[in-house]
Amino acid sequence: MRNFFMKTYSTIPEIKAFLNTQKTQNLTVGFVPTMGALHQGHISLIERAKKENDLCVCSIFVNPIQFNNPDDFTRYPVRTEKDITMLKEAGCDALFNPGKAEMYPAPVSIKYDFGELEKVMEGAFRPGHFNGVAIVVNRLFEIIEPDNAYFGEKDYQQLQIIRSLVKMEKIPVNIVPCGIIRDVDGLALSSRNALLSAHERAVAPKIAAVLNECSSLARHMSVPEVKSYVQSKITAIPEFKLDYFEIAEAATLQPVNSWNESDHIRAFIAVYLDKVRLIDNVRIFL
Ligand code: PAJ
Repeated sequence: MRNFFMKTYSTIPEIKAFLNTQKTQNLTVGFVPTMGALHQGHISLIERAKKENDLCVCSIFVNPIQFNNPDDFTRYPVRTEKDITMLKEAGCDALFNPGKAEMYPAPVSIKYDFGELEKVMEGAFRPGHFNGVAIVVNRLFEIIEPDNAYFGEKDYQQLQIIRSLVKMEKIPVNIVPCGIIRDVDGLALSSRNALLSAHERAVAPKIAAVLNECSSLARHMSVPEVKSYVQSKITAIPEFKLDYFEIAEAATLQPVNSWNESDHIRAFIAVYLDKVRLIDNVRIFL
């Protein structure tokens, strides 16, 4: 399982040369793009990519153009040495860890149109965020040319944006959705959890706890009733500042008004704990 021979490449020609030698042997490539500060959520994607492909490639790049808040970018945790150890332990074959100049030698001005998908939730609260994500993921796909690419449902809207990007740009890659990995207390793992104070970390699991109530609430409450229940429960916690709570159709991410509008409905939440913004989502089972 372990791969202490994992190579790290920081330039595009180097990673391409490595991949070209592998691809001549007809090996399949599974790719996991990340921004580092890795945790078990990322590692679950690496393990899946490893299992389903001949070769597993990870990228670590804290993409400046997807941060709508400059302080969030400055604060974003960087722990490359620890990440490399974790990737080796998980059996990753190659890491692409470029600098900003390598990824963006010139300013980029591409503007994608994801329609209604980018007008809600993260798209509405973080202007320009998904455009920055799409630019970097498209660029990474051009460099790595993976057969399969792995994305977590933790960032459910991002997953749908990437699916839409791949369709729009006709990129020959299979997008593989992966389930959310949580801590024992239910908190969805996130690189940003490392920025929480001990007290904030202790209250943060209340986000997942409220989401977990949604399915049983849905059996005797309407959509608007569940929404106001959750909103009041979250706003009653002094450490939380609610950005949004939304109940939406899983593919289009458009808000629903009743439970029978779709057979896959999810609840989505974004909450600030002081300066740290956490997101989570769950499927609602009726
Ligand atoms: P990052 O937040 O580092 O996440 C990398 C991948 O790990 C994403 O697909 C994300 O959904 C997944 N992930 C994070 N936490 C998870 C968890 N608890 N369970 C399962 N999967 C989890 O998402 C990004 O980076 C960036 O936007 C990126 C796609 C790399 C583009 O810059």
